[in-house]
Amino acid sequence: SSPVLEDRFGRTIDYVRLSVTDRCDFRCVYCMAEDMTFVPRAQVLTLEEMGRLARVLVALGVKRIRLTGGEPLVRKDVAHLVRDIGAIPGLSELNLTTNGSRLDRFADELKAGGLDRINISLDSLNPDRFRELTRTGDLAQVLRGIDAARQAGFQRIKLNSVILRGRNHDEVPALVDFALDKGLDIAFIEEMPLGQITEHDRGLEFVSSEELRDDLSTRLNLVPLAEKTGGPSRYWQVPGSDSRIGFISPHSQNFCHLCNRVRITAEGRMLLCLGHEHSVDLRAVLRAHPDDDTPLRNAIVDAMAIKPERHDFTLDPGEQLVRFMNMTGG
Ligand code: GTP
Ligand code: 5AD
Ligand code: SF4
Repeated sequence: SSPVLEDRFGRTIDYVRLSVTDRCDFRCVYCMAEDMTFVPRAQVLTLEEMGRLARVLVALGVKRIRLTGGEPLVRKDVAHLVRDIGAIPGLSELNLTTNGSRLDRFADELKAGGLDRINISLDSLNPDRFRELTRTGDLAQVLRGIDAARQAGFQRIKLNSVILRGRNHDEVPALVDFALDKGLDIAFIEEMPLGQITEHDRGLEFVSSEELRDDLSTRLNLVPLAEKTGGPSRYWQVPGSDSRIGFISPHSQNFCHLCNRVRITAEGRMLLCLGHEHSVDLRAVLRAHPDDDTPLRNAIVDAMAIKPERHDFTLDPGEQLVRFMNMTGG
């Protein structure tokens, strides 16, 4: 039987979110501050180190890897990494989460390199609002990116929308129509309070998935999808369309008991849970043992023992984790 990573709560870890850079060309209000200091380059794993790490993870039973950021496509030569990881035998899926700003340039190359699926953030279809929410993003550019991904032949492209009351709350129907029209999936995400971001008031802007779904039900016949997708999203469909409408509800519907994943930051720190500090410095192990994978393998297996049972976003602000989402890998 193939080796398996398992934590103290009996959960099998076969999915890794690998952040290839903490940098991004956007400054989304829920993810970053306006002024950000990024990690110095020498502290970031090289693409070779990321490839090596991926090989060891797959040898330990990891089946799916998702490249995240920051914005993964701002890192030079990410397409090489895709080709490298995409060729690892035993990996069943290599996916990417992107803000879409560079997809018009890279979609074909990523497809040719063996990338399986792409998730694209899209919080608004109104250019001014899109600019307000991303601070630097250009909606038209992202829409071109979405079309480039479709034309490159990617299947089951998923849009991600973080919904904030008073900002893009009223656009949920339009976003759903856009997804249905283009044959894409869409997931609405409850904002998670990571990082110290003072530019907007998180508590006041929170909207629960349930409220969104109730609103949508008044105009669409939403049928729950039984099939589990291996992620935190719960999906509905409208009859006659293949698109899935998902809700990621870290607040209103905890999904931690099904957790199958860990994260690796651009600096090579393995984070055992999105909402906690528990981590292991894999970069130190990678660099101390360039020619022997055994210590790296042991460090990963041992890390499973400190994976927390669940995230908790109900803590007082003073106790809440201060780590920006771009450092966390989404
Ligand atoms: P799959 O790889 O297909 O499961 O997609 P995904 O929806 O998990 O990935 P994506 O990168 O599109 O992330 C969508 C949202 O889900 C982001 O806001 C992530 O931060 C959030 N998310 C993903 N995994 C977890 C998790 O384990 N816990 C929490 N709280 N949120 C998560
Ligand atoms: N809460 C919820 N989702 C977030 N994302 C970024 N920051 C947050 C946050 N604080 C989402 C982005 C992207 C995905 C990787 O994570 O919108 O789609
Ligand atoms: Fe960049 Fe994504 Fe963070 Fe927006 S949410 S600033 S696109 S990493």
